[in-house]
Amino acid sequence: MSDPETWRRQYMSEPVQLPPEIDTTVPSVARGYDYALGGKNNFEVDRVAVDTLFKTFPGVKELALDNRAFLRRGVHYLVAEAGIKQIIDVGSGLPSAGNVHEVAHAIDPSVRVLYVDIDPIVLAHARALLAENDTTTVIQADAAKPESILGATETVELIDMDRPYAVLLSGILHHLHDEQDPQGVARTFREALPSGGYLLNSNFLDDDDQRARDLDRDLAVSFGTGRFRTWDEHRAYFEGLEIVDPGLVYANDWRPDGHTKVNSPWHGFLSAGIGRKP
Ligand SMILES: C[S@@+](CC[C@H](N)C(=O)[O-])C[C@H]1O[C@@H](n2cnc3c(N)ncnc32)[C@H](O)[C@@H]1O
Repeated sequence: MSDPETWRRQYMSEPVQLPPEIDTTVPSVARGYDYALGGKNNFEVDRVAVDTLFKTFPGVKELALDNRAFLRRGVHYLVAEAGIKQIIDVGSGLPSAGNVHEVAHAIDPSVRVLYVDIDPIVLAHARALLAENDTTTVIQADAAKPESILGATETVELIDMDRPYAVLLSGILHHLHDEQDPQGVARTFREALPSGGYLLNSNFLDDDDQRARDLDRDLAVSFGTGRFRTWDEHRAYFEGLEIVDPGLVYANDWRPDGHTKVNSPWHGFLSAGIGRKP
């Protein structure tokens, strides 16, 4: 896996043809997250939106970085310790340093990875990045319609649904509105998993802190999405699964490594966990 600067230099040297449907007048979650992570695949409108959030919630970039760091640790666990060889990454985001397939392939190059995102800019960049990669592919689909992901031709061709695989819902269910039934989405993915399959989850957390509610409100204005839900709601995403140690916890408390900011002032705004289907 390349370090962030090496990756950025290699990656940014590849010109990417952006599809015409990309709207640069409205902030996008994928591009705003990319900006928060220090990436370059974003526009003025995305940067202004994130910088505006920063004024009332100075931890906005830390939440993105902490979420991404949990994702990397979680994928490392899934491949290195749980022996997972197939991954469906829902709401995968723009390619960034330490992508899921890179973390997985550094441990086992045969791991198959399906990236899924609703934003066409993710598809454009991921396709360019993955052009030469036959273990990893990307599709455009809506996380709110899990059947459309599980039943897609690319999914069926890449993922053997009868053998254990992991579904990653990292920073995605909080982008679904209540009407889109995030609990139903998690349930559909859980029910589809074979025994020995895994569900990874990380989400904005309302740990009874007014600042979470304020950011929820401001995200609705700027990005149209970003819900802070309670521990109980997050726990329900794992119903019927065996929760891997240390359980459903603040993201930075999930198996921290030498780089994890365990004393971050923002640690109470993100939960994370991994469950295994018995
Ligand atoms: C906060 S980013 C998380 C990226 C990555 N999973 C991570 O944890 O680093 C959320 C991603 O979900 C995507 N997204 C938002 N709503 C979606 C939906 N309904 N279906 C699929 N993807 C969606 C956004 O385009 C964005 O790329």
